[in-house]
Amino acid sequence: MFCRYRRPLLLRSVCKCRAVLTCFLGLAVALASCQAHAQTPSGLELLGRGVNFGNMLEVPRDANWGVTYAEDYPRLVKSAGFDTVRIPVRWSAWTDARPPYQIAPEFMKRVRRIVDACLDQGLKVVLNIHHFEELFERPADERQRFLAIWKQLAVEYSQAGDDLFFEFLNEPHQNLTADLWNPLFAECLAEVRKLHPQRWVVVGPDHWSNIQALKDLKLPEQDRRLIVTVHYYLPFNFTHQGASWVTPVLPTGLEWTGSQTEMSALRKDLEMVADWAKQHKRPMYIGEFGAYESADLNSRVRWTRSVREVCEELGMAWGYWELAAGFGIMDPQSRQWKPELVRALLPNFQ
Ligand code: BGC
Repeated sequence: MFCRYRRPLLLRSVCKCRAVLTCFLGLAVALASCQAHAQTPSGLELLGRGVNFGNMLEVPRDANWGVTYAEDYPRLVKSAGFDTVRIPVRWSAWTDARPPYQIAPEFMKRVRRIVDACLDQGLKVVLNIHHFEELFERPADERQRFLAIWKQLAVEYSQAGDDLFFEFLNEPHQNLTADLWNPLFAECLAEVRKLHPQRWVVVGPDHWSNIQALKDLKLPEQDRRLIVTVHYYLPFNFTHQGASWVTPVLPTGLEWTGSQTEMSALRKDLEMVADWAKQHKRPMYIGEFGAYESADLNSRVRWTRSVREVCEELGMAWGYWELAAGFGIMDPQSRQWKPELVRALLPNFQ
């Protein structure tokens, strides 16, 4: 009897073949997308949770911005639960003024000891050029020095493991606009790749690596070992209230309550960043975010926790600005953590 649920033999085998084919194709597509995913790990997978060693090595030569690197910082940071340290360095203050722009050997050694101490603790390290003011003022005159610094760093760290990440330049801005920064980055990358073909390199857009500037960032498409970074300090009049380096100094007393309006603005910003990352298949790293000490502590804690949570939800790595100065989460003298702020960053912190 011909059951209406059964199909003729030929049709059945065609269907079977088609089913097998569909299944096979489905598997292939799933595998391919898995592979594509494997090729583009998320920022969070690569760099996790981090903190900046700010105000230490990016200060002008012989200046002190209230905090000096101490030998136990890497251990303390690791045992608190951080994965990564970003080390901002003002290399430009330590090079010769003329080609080949040699970096002062004692400074090279000083930074190397700090990088190695962090790596020895099992921390990942993002090493950058910070505050290269001359390059921002006179990009054409200073590009050779910029390239020369990276050539020397490429040699110095040629034997380093995968836990070292290079970030070519903090917050390009002023006269170093996107049309100059994009080709300069590509040129520097080609140079560094000669010794570091596989190393992950971090790059941010011009305009202080503002989230709105992402649209102007043009990267070498074929290089798939790039992590994109932006900095997040919004609302700026909240995070930078009372900061002496902002002109005019912003009034203090502005709270951040985490209201629905505030939260949806924050989420909208960070989702825009995550969407860009997804669209361009690049891991994303919020390499700086933080609120200055003039803001009230509860507001800082709420804002910090919210940024951190949304970043993680969206698969983005983050680096809090910074360890032990004005935005700091630790008292540099007593080495005591500021527990509310640390817990906003590391929920399991005891
Ligand atoms: C600058 C710091 C500043 C921080 C917040 C960083 O990129 O290098 O000097 O404190 O941003 O404004």
